[in-house]
Amino acid sequence: MQKLEMIYEGKAKKVYATDDPALCIVSYKDDATAFNGLKKGTIVGKGSVNNRMSNYLMKLIAEAGVPTHLVEELNDRETLVKRVKIVPLEVIIRNVAAGSFSKRFGVEEGRSLACPVLEFSYKDDALGDPMINNSHILALELATEQELETISNYAMKVNEVLKERFLAAELELVDFKIEFGKLPSGEIVLADEISPDTCRLWDVHTHEKLDKDRFRRDLGGVEDAYIEVARRLMGN
Ligand code: TMP
Ligand code: ASP
Repeated sequence: MQKLEMIYEGKAKKVYATDDPALCIVSYKDDATAFNGLKKGTIVGKGSVNNRMSNYLMKLIAEAGVPTHLVEELNDRETLVKRVKIVPLEVIIRNVAAGSFSKRFGVEEGRSLACPVLEFSYKDDALGDPMINNSHILALELATEQELETISNYAMKVNEVLKERFLAAELELVDFKIEFGKLPSGEIVLADEISPDTCRLWDVHTHEKLDKDRFRRDLGGVEDAYIEVARRLMGN
């Protein structure tokens, strides 16, 4: 597999073409941003943790019946994935009130929700990723009704798999964001990443935050939190 030109650079990853048009290479950076790029920094070692953790979790998710973009981990920071067209939605699941949910509804952070909440944001940096509902998505033709149903069912299944796995590592999965992509065949697959950048993870006993909120909120100990999550999940 030959790595060719960079085709996309996001806030946390670069994507390279390969000599196979159906595959690309994702390269995870240590760069961190928050608040739509307003806050910038570096989290040393993040690229490696996020790459390995995301692949580890995507394998579990695939075993549970949700297809993913993962093909093969190439090294600490790089992974071969299926080339997809990203569905422009941030798919968010919440088990416990936190972040923008707490702000929007005036609910204290840490309150358990009676059932998992599924919400969508429209992936558009210029608009600040606004929250969007099912009828907006259909009206704007961001996904078909069938795709939206598949995405919603997959997201709920991902929540079940992740909640259980994190709990075994004494981590509470407060909420997370995932993204889906479309293969040329039209098949929907889980894409992007699952990492402390995209999940809120709290220690089950102390409720200590072990995720990107440490960076967003200037809590310190950011690198250590990422390493701790990797250690609990994968032993390193
Ligand atoms: P929120 O409470 O700020 O809406 O975040 C919900 C979840 O989504 C949380 O686990 C962090 C994650 N997230 C991202 O992965 N990317 C983003 O740009 C934002 C705003 C949140
Ligand atoms: N995606 C956000 C940013 O743009 C980061 C976040 O809050 O997770 O900078």
